[in-house]
Parts: sequence; C-alpha cells; structure tokens
Amino acid sequence: MLLAIETSCDETGVALFSEEGKLIKHLLYSQVAIHSPFGGIVPEIASRKQLEILMPLIKGLLKEVEVSIKELRCVCATFGPGLIGSLLVGVSLAKALSFALKIPLVAVDHLQAHLFSIFLEKEIEFPYIGLLVSGGHTALFLVNSWENYELLGHTRDDAAGEAFDKVAKLLNLSYPGGPVISKLAEKGNRKAIIFPRPLLEENNFDFSFSGLKTAVLNYIRTNPNFKTEDVCASFEEAVCEVLIEKTFKAAEKFKIPRIIVAGGVASNKRLRELFYEKTKVKGFEIYFPSPEFCTDNAAMVGIVGYYKWKKGLWDNLEKEAYARAIFKKIKL
Ligand code: KG4
Ligand code: ZN
Repeated sequence: MLLAIETSCDETGVALFSEEGKLIKHLLYSQVAIHSPFGGIVPEIASRKQLEILMPLIKGLLKEVEVSIKELRCVCATFGPGLIGSLLVGVSLAKALSFALKIPLVAVDHLQAHLFSIFLEKEIEFPYIGLLVSGGHTALFLVNSWENYELLGHTRDDAAGEAFDKVAKLLNLSYPGGPVISKLAEKGNRKAIIFPRPLLEENNFDFSFSGLKTAVLNYIRTNPNFKTEDVCASFEEAVCEVLIEKTFKAAEKFKIPRIIVAGGVASNKRLRELFYEKTKVKGFEIYFPSPEFCTDNAAMVGIVGYYKWKKGLWDNLEKEAYARAIFKKIKL
C-alpha cells in the first residue's frame, strides 16, 4: 500500500492507494477558517497547524480503513513548490516513515500532481494542454506523457486564485475570494465594466493578474456607488476570458485538441461554462477533475507517487523540499 502526503500550503491531505494503484481513501483537513480573519494565508500559522494535524490525520486514515502502518510499502509526499515551513512537515514525516519502515520514498511535485489529478477519475490520452489555476499558481503546460511535460507559460505576478482573493478583500468579502465572487457574479452584469484582459494580445503563454486587480481598485475608488455584483461579474469575466483564450491559443499552436483544467480555480462555474461552450464549437475535448480533486489534496499526490513508485523513480533521504517551481519555460 502507498501513503501519500500533501502539506504544501494550508491544507493537510493524506491518501492511501492499493498495490494496484486504486485510491482507497483520502482525508483532507482545511485551515481556511483559521486564515480567513487575516484575509489570506499566514505561513507561520499554516506550518504550525500542519505539524499538529498531520500525524493524527494519518492515524485516523489507517484506522478507518483498518490498515496497520507496517503494511505500507511506499510513502510519497509533496516536496514543492509551496510554503517551505508547511512542506517540511510532510517531507520530514515521509522521510521518517521511509527510514523507519525501510520503504521507498517518492518525492512528488505539487504542480505535476495538479496536472495529473484528472487520472484519479479518468484515463486521458496524451498529449494534452494542461491549465493549472490555483491560489499559488497559474501556468500552461504541454503534457506529452507522465514523464514529459513542458511549461509553456506562467503568471508574471499574481496567480488567478490570488487575484480572486485580493479583489474579494478590496470588496470587503470573505476569504477565500473565489467562491464568494463567483456566487455574487451570478447576480451581476458581466458587461457592466470593461476591465483589462492582461497579455491577451501578446504572443506568449504568460499571464498577469496584478494589473487587473489594480483596475478593480481604481474602479471602486472612482465609483463609490459601485454595484458589488457587477464588479464581481465583470472581474470574473475578464479572468475567465484570459485563461480560456491563452489555453486555446496553446491548443491551436501545438495542434492538440485536448485540454485539462486543474487547481482550485478550476471549480469556478463560469470558467467551466465558457470552456465547455468553446470546446464544443471547436470540437475539442475538455476535462475538469471533480471539485474534491481541484483543491489541494493528497489523492493527486498519490496518483503521481504511485506511477513513480512502480517505475522505480525513487528518491533518497537527502532529497530536499523546495519552495519555488522547478520548471523552465520551453523556447517557443
Ligand atoms: O488549489 P487551491 O486549493 O490551493 C492552491 O494551491 O492555491 O486553490 C485555492 C484558490 C483560492 O485562491 C480560491 O479563491 C480559488 O482557488 N478558488 C476559486 C473558486 N474556488 C476556489 N476561484 C474562483 N472560483 C471558484 N469557485
Ligand atoms: Zn495547489
């Protein structure tokens, strides 16, 4: 059996996989309520909470499925990117388990885990274009196989989810901003305010959302009687349009009619709606993981960990956690 651990940010996730690679069960503890009063994640609080939660969560998981710790044959964990203090909690425990139980240790990259999370529910044909949109990352990948995936572009400043969170803060809405904005946007006019579509005209696959956030700030400062629903709807429309246009640009350039959208923002209703509409017109395939696997979780870490375990792609105890993304953009 394989144990997977995810502690890259403010979620503690653990998952158990069978020898055949089937997800037996996964558990998730979210710290959202703890960080909510601060309007964002406080790294020091996040890592301390990880330390408190991780071991009891693993014990609870093993107990629930009546598996003894001695039955574990491999342990994998997210090694990065993420908050280093949080990462170290999961990485240290994975190393300790590997050492004590004499079982292989597998390091999993968090972005790879999101990109392949769809395989928890569906076998997808390669290649595909992977759009990863979360609170920490916004990036486009060309995924050729489990071991060959290339970064086409990423955000130059804020991630899409981060922009949702920051705009929510400007509007005095709660954290995390994505779900709240999305709900209010349903009652607003998406064409009420024309916010900028950053980098849409540029010939690359990078994103930028901090200017859009500033445009919202300027708008609410100069229009004190603004309608929150309209701001939410117009902002959401701008974010979705940029994400969709860039993804299709990549799909068309590389002639790959298959798209996967992953990460927390992939749960966004409007984003899904617009992606489905456009893929239907173009005859492309589009896949979204269930919301349960869009946000950070250990099941997606386990699916990559299982592949690497069976392929013998193991790591040793010297392997270190890393805070920043390790991918270099391919030359276009
Ligand atoms: O993937 P995730 O759980 O954690 C990171 O790795 O960052 O993503 C969290 C982010 C938050 O910024 C949150 O506001 C955003 O995903 N999010 C959404 C929605 N649900 C979560 N953004 C837009 N619409 C949503 N429905
Ligand atoms: Zn994530």
